[in-house]
Amino acid sequence: MSSLQAATALLEQSLRTRRTLLGRTRTGVTRESLARLSQTPAAQTSEISNPKSEMPRSARLVALNEAVRACRQCENLAASRTQTVFGTGNPQADLMFVGEAPGADEDKQGEPFVGRAGELLTRIIGAMGLSRGDVYIANVLKCRPDMEPGAPGNRPPAILEMQRCLPYLREQIAIIQPRVLVALGKTAMTGLTGADQSMSTLRGRWLTFENIPLLPTYHPSYLLRNGSNVEKRKVWEDMMLVMEKLGMPISEKQRGFFLSAS
Ligand code: URA
Repeated sequence: MSSLQAATALLEQSLRTRRTLLGRTRTGVTRESLARLSQTPAAQTSEISNPKSEMPRSARLVALNEAVRACRQCENLAASRTQTVFGTGNPQADLMFVGEAPGADEDKQGEPFVGRAGELLTRIIGAMGLSRGDVYIANVLKCRPDMEPGAPGNRPPAILEMQRCLPYLREQIAIIQPRVLVALGKTAMTGLTGADQSMSTLRGRWLTFENIPLLPTYHPSYLLRNGSNVEKRKVWEDMMLVMEKLGMPISEKQRGFFLSAS
């Protein structure tokens, strides 16, 4: 295939994805239709995840990112965002982390988990013997939730915002086909699966999402607020479950992380 043919195929794929995910019109979207959409398996919502597609995962992600960048389903978020924040990492990753939404730092830089919580997530990934380039990191919501002008901090995404955005994440997962998913925090879990239980109930137990093992754990921001070794150990035990599931070796040193109470 010539580079011109490849570029044309990519553009056509991007347009098909945009039509499929956004619909032909941008009005008339009801809560019910979005709920239905969010329950539709990715493989039915888009041709981009067609297993027969010969396009490499990276090209399919580029096409999907184009659709995300053009999305204006949440007018308020489209108007307030600096840019959409699609995801980062290895398109062939075995392990994919899912957070809730970009904050101010991510909105500025266009990459998920680059603020303080992101630095901690990067350290957790490092403790597993991996780097950010080995895994894939994305959020349920691809835009920063808008704030009153001058208001400090970030707000959690609304359910409707996550329902509108979820088909993009489903599609990312369908393209990447990770062997394990980790949901970071209750909001991400609710956005991904609709689960409403507390994270203390959910964490550390395997669930599935589209037949992929899914492990909920605390969001790194929680550990920044409550940095006791007891809470850090819980997240670390969850990460060891992930490593076991992926068949990764765990050293004695790793097994001992955060065992002291302070
Ligand atoms: N928190 C999230 O859930 N996602 C980010 O990208 C950053 C912080």
